[in-house]
Amino acid sequence: MGRLKNCCRRRGRTAVQAELENVRRQALEEISSTANLQDLERLRQKFVGRKGVAADYIKMVSLLPAGERPSAGRKANELKKELIEKLRFRETEIKKAAECREKIPLDFTLPGVKHPAGKLHPITQTISAIEKIFGELGFKPVLGPEIETEYYNFEALNIHSDHPARDDQDSFYLDDKTLLRTQTSPVQIRIMEECKPPVRIIASGKCYRRDATDASHSSQFHQVEGLLVDKNVSFSDLKGVLKFFIQRMFGVQIRMRLRPDFFPFTEPSADVSISCPICGGDGCSSCGWKGWLEILGAGMVDPEVFKNVGYDPELYSGFAFGIGVERIAMLKHGINDIRIFLENDIRFLKQF
Ligand code: DAH
Repeated sequence: MGRLKNCCRRRGRTAVQAELENVRRQALEEISSTANLQDLERLRQKFVGRKGVAADYIKMVSLLPAGERPSAGRKANELKKELIEKLRFRETEIKKAAECREKIPLDFTLPGVKHPAGKLHPITQTISAIEKIFGELGFKPVLGPEIETEYYNFEALNIHSDHPARDDQDSFYLDDKTLLRTQTSPVQIRIMEECKPPVRIIASGKCYRRDATDASHSSQFHQVEGLLVDKNVSFSDLKGVLKFFIQRMFGVQIRMRLRPDFFPFTEPSADVSISCPICGGDGCSSCGWKGWLEILGAGMVDPEVFKNVGYDPELYSGFAFGIGVERIAMLKHGINDIRIFLENDIRFLKQF
């Protein structure tokens, strides 16, 4: 009260109103944090009782110059009304909470609520399985950015500006020079720029393309990229590594087939298929009656790529490969629609 009185005398209406706002904020805070009726009653006396803060303030209004009294008086009455309302509201809340507690007494003999254990997404599990297999051969997992520059995603990989893969149709551009990576191959460049040979890495992650979505295409998907560079690396080393991977992943009975292909960053290049794990290679609906399923692209690193990262192609050779993770997961688990990986349907996810 003393504070208010001084306020009214010395500083006039604006100071009084600021003080009033402080009182209001403090009162509302105290009321909302009160949890029982006795405390609430105490607050009622303190703020809106006969000798409470609001009453004091109303009395103090008479100390203001005559012209300022009506508006200050109105404000004081409004504050009192607001606090009474708030006290009533809080009283109802406290009473309701008490009723609820009485109606549902605690039964300590009830069994606890079981929360089902969470699981890793099947794509994450597949990536881990792939990394583990290549880990046995000394490949180290590394990561690269999902937002890439044209240079890393295309140019350094020998994909020049007239290449169809550079078409806006295929890529999500963020601005003139940056895009969501369309493949994990740019990680090869980033690693070679940083490290001298020998290099033996595996880089997994998300890739994006402006593909229309259907049972076998998704605009967001995963790849695992492999790169090995050393002296005297040959195509037969590549074949050996891929065969090891395929048989570890799908079983020793699975056969591997390489056919010539073209990738701007490898020469020669191959597309790699496995004998259909479902029909054993005889032909069925899963393999389109071909008996073979393509699972990855691979090849010997093109000398142009080596030049781009400052490796001497006369001294070093190497191979690279890119695996479609969804494809592997679908084959492994007999899934026939890629879209299901992104649907977050718990009935699907809990099977893995
Ligand atoms: N980046 C290629 C793609 O997305 C896949 C690929 C093919 C990666 C051959 C490689 C490779 O490293 O050697 O289609």
